[in-house]
Amino acid sequence: MLSQENNNKRSTWSGRTYVYDPLSILFHWVIGALLIRQIFFPPEIEGMPFDQRPPMVTFHTGMGLIILALVVLRIVWFLRRGSAPMVENTPLWQYRVAISVHRAFYVLMFLTPLLGFLSTFSAPYEIAPFNLFYLNSEAHAPTFWFELPSFIHKQGSRIMIGLLVIHSLAALYHQFHVKDNLLRRMIPALPPQEDD
Ligand code: HEM
Repeated sequence: MLSQENNNKRSTWSGRTYVYDPLSILFHWVIGALLIRQIFFPPEIEGMPFDQRPPMVTFHTGMGLIILALVVLRIVWFLRRGSAPMVENTPLWQYRVAISVHRAFYVLMFLTPLLGFLSTFSAPYEIAPFNLFYLNSEAHAPTFWFELPSFIHKQGSRIMIGLLVIHSLAALYHQFHVKDNLLRRMIPALPPQEDD
């Protein structure tokens, strides 16, 4: 693992393995689980008449707002915390891919729910997250300002599926093939592998 002198101010170490701080770990797994739930089980509204859609999006928009709030907190925490050090002996190209995937995740984790939220104000049907309050209380014809953010919202979630596949396979490859304790950075309770 990388020298502890290159440590950022909030990191900790377990043996020779860099470990994320507890708040970063909590954000990672809670937001990850919510995003996977939200992306893989979206409401089946495509092709449905607009007037039948409100009950379908009630839960989705509520969860989207919660995810957006958590992602904002996570970004603030990331900016205070700084980047994690590279795992020793990782080829530079792999490190660059990992950093690019992490950055793309941060951008999409923020923009995808934000654009979903923005689209609600011009939605052609009523939207009340968790039935608690109205973001849009009138049905009207769909406009460009609904269709554009909705389109980006949907494409953003598709790109995140691709990133999730790359990110998860890379984590598993490092953990079980390279055996460099990478997963212990995000799950410190895992038993250490050899050379730690
Ligand atoms: C939608 C779900 C996920 C998202 C959005 C996500 C996002 C991220 C991001 C942005 C980082 C960089 C660290 C940070 O700043 O927080 C990271 C690190 C990490 N993730 Fe995920 N992740 C997800 C799911 C997973 C899964 C399923 C695994 C395990 C198979 C995993 C394993 C890891 C590991 C081991 C690290 C540390 C990598 C390193 O420090 O180089 N992640 N993740």
